[in-house]
Amino acid sequence: MNPIQIAIDGPASAGKSTIAKILASDLNFVYVDTGAMYRAITLAAFQAGVDPNDESGVTALLPDLTITFQPGEPVQRVFLNGQEVTEEIRSVEVTANVSAVSSYAAVREAMTALQRDIASENGVVMDGRDIGTTVLPNAQVKIFLIASVAERAQRRFKENQAKGMDTSLAELEAAIEKRDYLDSHREISPLKKADDAVELDTTGLSIDGVVDAVKAIIAEKT
Ligand code: C5P
Repeated sequence: MNPIQIAIDGPASAGKSTIAKILASDLNFVYVDTGAMYRAITLAAFQAGVDPNDESGVTALLPDLTITFQPGEPVQRVFLNGQEVTEEIRSVEVTANVSAVSSYAAVREAMTALQRDIASENGVVMDGRDIGTTVLPNAQVKIFLIASVAERAQRRFKENQAKGMDTSLAELEAAIEKRDYLDSHREISPLKKADDAVELDTTGLSIDGVVDAVKAIIAEKT
């Protein structure tokens, strides 16, 4: 039997990674944070002095990049060429430039291949923007998580405050809206609900509430 695949897509800061991580741990599946991969490439561009808007410059970096994960609390640890970058990939600069980097054909091809590879060997809970539409079109369970922009900005604001990051609510709302616009209007694999995905609006729901709702969907589909 093929390993079970659970695809969780949705706009920025909709709670995908929080939910996916809990599900993966409860189901004993591998959690794959695909956004972290695109973020790591964006960071690699900055480290190499390549402008993230320079498609051929970013593409040229790909053959030398290795992105790996290790379990960690409260978030999965991310490594770029063996160096831990768990925190750096969440910086304001990386967040502001990741949509440009993730729009490049060569970047998407390389990451899609890596993501499919992981899913071919393990039961996975994979979160991203194009998992249900492109990466794992045959996933047994596809969830599209949404929440209001105001609530998503508020969640991110609290997370940033806890990390000592100084950002304003208005700036966060604007950044989230901009990223969603870019991600859903790019040419290749834009952010989009798969036709067979179940949409879940998490506005006003607790984390436990969302996990329970998703588990009910999984029970129905598997
Ligand atoms: O999920 P996260 O906010 O960390 O994703 C960062 C960025 O990576 C997204 O805004 C998007 O540009 C890109 N991404 C993507 N495809 C995915 C996951 C993330 O293009 N499957």
